[in-house]
Parts: sequence; structure tokens; C-alpha cells
Amino acid sequence: MTSLLKQSVVDALNGQVVEEFTASLQYTAIALYFDSETLPELSNFFHLQAQEEHEHAMKLLQYITEAGGQPIVPATKEVKNSFESAEEAVSLALSQEITVTNQINSLVALAVKENDYLTNQYLQWFVTEQLEEVSSMSDLLNIVTRAGNDLFRIEEYLIRNPHELAAGGGAE
Ligand code: FEO
Repeated sequence: MTSLLKQSVVDALNGQVVEEFTASLQYTAIALYFDSETLPELSNFFHLQAQEEHEHAMKLLQYITEAGGQPIVPATKEVKNSFESAEEAVSLALSQEITVTNQINSLVALAVKENDYLTNQYLQWFVTEQLEEVSSMSDLLNIVTRAGNDLFRIEEYLIRNPHELAAGGGAE
């Protein structure tokens, strides 16, 4: 079909696909770290986050395809696989979410610059999603920091408040 997208926008969207797939694998690595520490609730939380990031990548690929661009399924960037502490792992997750938020903002800025209202509108879902993801990861980091060495308190918190930090919150 005729493409509705400028090549600069297609390239930027495909670039974001790399970030989302990398985020998915990074969360898988964090989930496995918590598995190895016998912290199943934290592990489950990050496995769910990993699934969400995979869905974000797929959403972008499907949009590029529907709009007539060439989707590219990429190799990902490096993933960190070893952590000294829960705090280090969750800090990495939060900084990843802040980076992704900035990347989504840059994508929106590009869409506006190119008068691409379709892409701008499509990206608004991601804008809202990032608010929830940064907020829930920031809450989790607070809880982990407060718990110190008593990580079972975090497990209890996640059991008692299953929706409080639900991955991605309500933005479906
Ligand atoms: Fe797809 Fe957590 O940003």
C-alpha cells in the first residue's frame, strides 16, 4: 500500500522497537535474578513487565505495517544479567523507564515536526503508558529502598497489594 508515513518517522519508530524489545529482555533478566533470590512476587512482577514491553514493540511494528511502512524486527542491545542487590535491579528498571519516556517524547516531537498527526495520535497511548510505568517503578524503588535487607516485606506487599503496582496500570 501507499505509505502514510515519511521515512524519517518509519526509521524512528523502528528505532523505538529496538528499545522496547531490549526493555523486554532486560526485564526478563531482572525477573530471573529475583527467581534466583527466591523472591517469586518480584520475579512475577518483572515477568509481567517483560510481556508488556514485548507488546509495546509489537504495537509499534503493527502500526508501521498498517500505515504502509517497512517494519524491522531487530537484534536488541546488550542486557545486564547480574545484580548486586534488589535496589540495583529496580534502579536500572526505573532509569530504563525514564529513558523510554524521553524517547517517546522525542518521537512525538518528530511526528509534530513532520505534520504527521496520525503518528502523533497513535503515540499518545505510549505517552500515557509511560506515566504509569515510571510511577509504578518509582513506587517499587521506594518500597525496595525502605525494605533494606528485609526483601520478604516486599513480597508481602506485592501479595497484599496485587494491583497497586500492576504492570502498566490501566493503559491497555
Ligand atoms: Fe515500553 Fe516500559 O516502556
